[in-house]
Amino acid sequence: MTDAGMSGKGSVAVEFEGIVKAFGPVQVLHGVSFALVPGCVYGLLGENGAGKSTLMKILSGYESPTGGTLKINGQPRQFASSRDAEALGIVLIHQEFNLAEDLNVAQNVFLGHEKKKGWLLDDAAMERDAASALAAVGLNIDPRTKVRRLIVAEKQLVEIAKAIARRARLLVMDEPTATLTPGETERLFKLIAQLRADGVTIVYISHKLDEVERVTDDVIVMRDGRFVARAPTAEVTRQQMANLMVGRELADLYPPRDPVTTASAPAMRVQGFSVPGWAQDASFEVRPGEILGFAGLVGAGRTELFEGLLGLRPASGGSVEMLGQPVPHGKGWRNPRDAARHGLTYLSEDRKGKGLHVDFGLRQNLTLMALERYAQPWLKPEAERGALAEAVKDYGIRTGSLDVKASSLSGGNQQKLALAKVLQPKPKVVVLDEPTRGVDVGAKRDIYFLIQRLAREGLAVIVVSSELMELIGLCHRVAVMRAGRIVATLDADHLTEEELIAHATGTR
Ligand SMILES: Nc1ncnc2c1ncn2[C@@H]1O[C@H](COP(=O)(O)OP(=O)(O)OP(=O)(O)O)[C@@H](O)[C@H]1O
Ligand SMILES: [Mg+2]
Repeated sequence: MTDAGMSGKGSVAVEFEGIVKAFGPVQVLHGVSFALVPGCVYGLLGENGAGKSTLMKILSGYESPTGGTLKINGQPRQFASSRDAEALGIVLIHQEFNLAEDLNVAQNVFLGHEKKKGWLLDDAAMERDAASALAAVGLNIDPRTKVRRLIVAEKQLVEIAKAIARRARLLVMDEPTATLTPGETERLFKLIAQLRADGVTIVYISHKLDEVERVTDDVIVMRDGRFVARAPTAEVTRQQMANLMVGRELADLYPPRDPVTTASAPAMRVQGFSVPGWAQDASFEVRPGEILGFAGLVGAGRTELFEGLLGLRPASGGSVEMLGQPVPHGKGWRNPRDAARHGLTYLSEDRKGKGLHVDFGLRQNLTLMALERYAQPWLKPEAERGALAEAVKDYGIRTGSLDVKASSLSGGNQQKLALAKVLQPKPKVVVLDEPTRGVDVGAKRDIYFLIQRLAREGLAVIVVSSELMELIGLCHRVAVMRAGRIVATLDADHLTEEELIAHATGTR
């Protein structure tokens, strides 16, 4: 795709003047004012729930402000829908994907902008143009593939391709790399540089401060629905960015490691377990009180191994023991509910697709996996409500009210709710797949301390993560998977990122 094909003409300058937003009685933006000039890459920072996504949804026509003025190129604008904003070249790439799962990739890319030949849809032209947008983001798939069949990283790249095909002049990327591999992230950065050179304004929202440091010209920090600071990126350190976000000095990110009692029997022992096409002959064990990490490149089979163990994918062979007892994997244990009954629960990396029912209330989400406890002999709303109030406090879930849908929580707060949900059935072993994805630094620290507290209380925790520092900082041992096999299990003391990468890529 040529540069001219990637973006339309004209530039977009933005001024937010005293933007206010309330959802019912809850005010989430308290008069935000700042300006964006064309052709710059802005990092928009702030804790979970600070209002970043909400402000950007206002800019791109998905929400209307309850007060203040939005000016585009000096003109006050009130967008009735995202189409109005897109007409001016403003496109938002959603944090929580906004794809129609049952349509194919090309149909998604052109959703609402379908190409026509006379009265008919021009499928061939849409597939061709979708293919070139996919090529620009480096996604090598058939544009006729149904979105439902894609993995999360691919869905993210489709979102980006969709924006590219719309020839954005101002592109908002809300946590675009949360699900991408390092290679895909590099390619995205090149694309950002290309768009910037072409005069496109970019707002880049991320909790990954190293990325913000690399790709942005300026950083803008929000806290509690207010603008708090802006600075050229080159003039602030990551520590300063983090402190500005949380409004105080941040202490150590990782809790001190507690020793694991070697005497105790494994909480879970897996031997010779396979998930055809994904994981071969996996053997590992985790003890009560232990935090076991799983490292590996995307596609190494980590998620699929655990999906197999939970009964979410067909598995073959091998044996599973919980607390020394063999369990009837594949027979009496067919799905996550069965696994939970045996003491194993799983936090999916695909929060929106598999983790939460975003159209359900917080309460229903929280108790879905522990229904036995709340629904015998009949549903006890009072007990549920109590459990929710407790979880909100325990996990630091920020919400205006307890009676909202999960979709109204900010991304990071949805993650905390998902975490609370998998711990509700009081498991013996919990598998957390990317537990801090989209979570701000302060909340990350809370989650690390929470995981450690749970381990200290005797829970066995398995953490699958693509953040190597997180595995090293948090875990007792780290297993590394490569091409479907566990190739090493390393003690986390003195472990380095280089060593993990070497095992994950097979260069040692
Ligand atoms: N539709 C809604 N109804 C009620 N409250 C909402 C709605 N959308 C957002 N909020 C609230 O607005 C606040 C700001 O949320 P927003 O999603 O903008 O945060 P964010 O800065 O993007 O956070 P994160 O880093 O977690 O993505 C949160 O407290 C959230 O619960
Ligand atoms: Mg957000």
